Amino acid sequence: MIQRPKGTYDVNGIYGKKLLYVEELIEGLMEKYNYEYFRTPIFESSTLFHRGVGETTDIVTKETYDFKDRGDRDVTLRPEGTASIVRSFIENKMYGNRTMPVKAWYYGPMFRYERPQSGRFREFYQFGVEVFGSLDAMSDAEVISIPVNLYKLLGLKGIKVNINSLGDKESREMYREALIEYFKPHINDLCEDCKERFLKNPLRILDCKIDADSDILKNAPKTIDYLNSNSLNHFNKVKKYLEAMNIDYTINTKLVRGLDYYTHTVFEVEASVEGFGSQNVLCGGGRYDNLVETLDGPKTSGVGFAMGIERLMTALDYEAVTLPIIDNIDCYIIPVSENEKDLAIHILQDLRLNGFIADIDYNNRNLKNNFKNADRLNSKFIIIIGEEEKDSGILTIKNNETKEEYKLSHDELIDFLDQNI
Ligand code: HAM
Repeated sequence: MIQRPKGTYDVNGIYGKKLLYVEELIEGLMEKYNYEYFRTPIFESSTLFHRGVGETTDIVTKETYDFKDRGDRDVTLRPEGTASIVRSFIENKMYGNRTMPVKAWYYGPMFRYERPQSGRFREFYQFGVEVFGSLDAMSDAEVISIPVNLYKLLGLKGIKVNINSLGDKESREMYREALIEYFKPHINDLCEDCKERFLKNPLRILDCKIDADSDILKNAPKTIDYLNSNSLNHFNKVKKYLEAMNIDYTINTKLVRGLDYYTHTVFEVEASVEGFGSQNVLCGGGRYDNLVETLDGPKTSGVGFAMGIERLMTALDYEAVTLPIIDNIDCYIIPVSENEKDLAIHILQDLRLNGFIADIDYNNRNLKNNFKNADRLNSKFIIIIGEEEKDSGILTIKNNETKEEYKLSHDELIDFLDQNI
């Protein structure tokens, strides 16, 4: 038997319904925030992610799906959305002819060759946003409010918002020097990857999964202590605006995020329910004021986030949130024999075009099994079409809950259902 690739999953049944509900809610929320829908290719040239996400990140060094296409080009399945959206912003010259900010949202599959475990897949879906051309801390706060409001709309309660600031270029440089000073005497006690990180990008040491619990990492300098006044000012404003929106947050000075492009604000929202599991980061993001320039665009600020849809679905299950999904149909049609199938399928078509959820017996079941099937489908009404109904043009409609029966002409059917569903 051919099996699906490791780290991937199939969607069907009730999970599919729940997923579609969440996707629709996201779409509606983005409309209210006045964001524009973006879609970019699932594969891009490899350099985009190498330069965009950062050469020293785990994502680029260990996790990308890289391959050569038949034209010998180096391409990569996107591991995240930000670099692609920035590429699209630049390539479509949105900096020139648009009123700033440009506020983009996106949804789609991402690919990372990670060790699969609960909440961690090799193909996973992200919903994300990117805002270009606003240096205002209101944008950072707005971006943070999006996942928080989505979780609220869905009825998730056990969430915790962690924020931190990496500061601007100058602050980051001062912090980098402090890290080098600090790690220098400890370098031989760190893992092999960290030795490499020390030389190339010491900030990445803080994100190490192997050394995460060592005292060396725990006692490392904090970004917040190296912020210059401009950076501190920006961070204070973000906090003030979050408070104005009644969003609770915790300052987590250890938060640095696993991608290289961040400046100023970084944040993550985690599922804080006990026993949720280790992959409890539901979403993450932050400001990146230099990425557009790094990818050859004009100097333009950016801020955004992305959330993992699978972890969100797990959190909904974990908190036993009931979603208002439709798990019933309006009408189930039973043609009694072969002779009535043309009329039955004609009515089926009419019902669907008039907005009703309708289905039919495709399997020539006997009446008893058809009633069972109508129950299985949770059908509100059953329409039985036998020889008599076909000849007279008067249909028998049964309310499957009250068991009441009605005799109606085809013309009266739609009005009747409109009034009763
Ligand atoms: P990220 O933290 O790498 O950020 O991913 C964002 C979210 O995607 C995570 O918090 C998690 O929920 C989900 N996720 C990541 N990897 C996996 C995986 N292997 N399996 C399941 N879910 C996963 C970014 O991707 C940035 N582009 C976010 C951003 C946008 N920053 C600014 N703008």
